Amino acid sequence: MEKFEIDFAKREDKIKISQLIKLSLKKTEISSFDYVAGLIKEFGPSQYSLKMTLNKKIIGFHEFFDENINTRNIDEYEFKEDVEKYQQKRGLRGYLFVIHPDYQKKGYGSAFIEYEKLLFKNKFDYIFGSCDIRFNNIEFWEKHRRIICNHLDSNKKIVAYETIMDL
Ligand SMILES: CC(C)(COP(=O)(O)OP(=O)(O)OC[C@H]1O[C@@H](n2cnc3c(N)ncnc32)[C@H](O)[C@@H]1OP(=O)(O)O)[C@@H](O)C(=O)NCCC(=O)NCCS
Repeated sequence: MEKFEIDFAKREDKIKISQLIKLSLKKTEISSFDYVAGLIKEFGPSQYSLKMTLNKKIIGFHEFFDENINTRNIDEYEFKEDVEKYQQKRGLRGYLFVIHPDYQKKGYGSAFIEYEKLLFKNKFDYIFGSCDIRFNNIEFWEKHRRIICNHLDSNKKIVAYETIMDL
């Protein structure tokens, strides 16, 4: 791994970030993220979004929202543990995480996640987020977070995992 920097993403990064998202997700064929890339291109990243740079080139991005995990026990949610306690805590939802294809599987994604842990630990109690199974990357998440809930479709088939890390 080369020496990287992680910092809050700024409004002026919005074009580069939306290009990075499109490039990183091209293989997945999950078209809804084209829409997200479009939103970032138009409005810029959110307040807590982070970028990873290598020699001034943006090679990673993680979008966040200040919100708590859903604890309502609806049919499509298969909770793995009691999530009620998280209602009283301060949650941060990771929404979209990408590493540039040329830099994947080299440790940058893990380094990014570990950095977030330190950066947000005084302001939030946990970071969570759901991951569509079509990303086929749950092994990556299980190295850093634990699965707290499965999201099911109408045939009770898992369509996404909700993962969490306590800070
Ligand atoms: C998933 C992603 C963010 C991981 O970042 P990364 O820099 O490639 O991951 P790392 O190199 O830090 O990998 C750490 C470990 O996770 C594993 N891993 C990484 N990506 C994986 C994947 N897609 N599937 C399974 N395991 C994966 C690595 O093999 C490595 O294992 P090891 O420690 O045993 O060697 C990145 O590959 C990516 O942007 N993928 C495309 C978009 C995506 O899936 N985003 C997440 C949406 S929820």
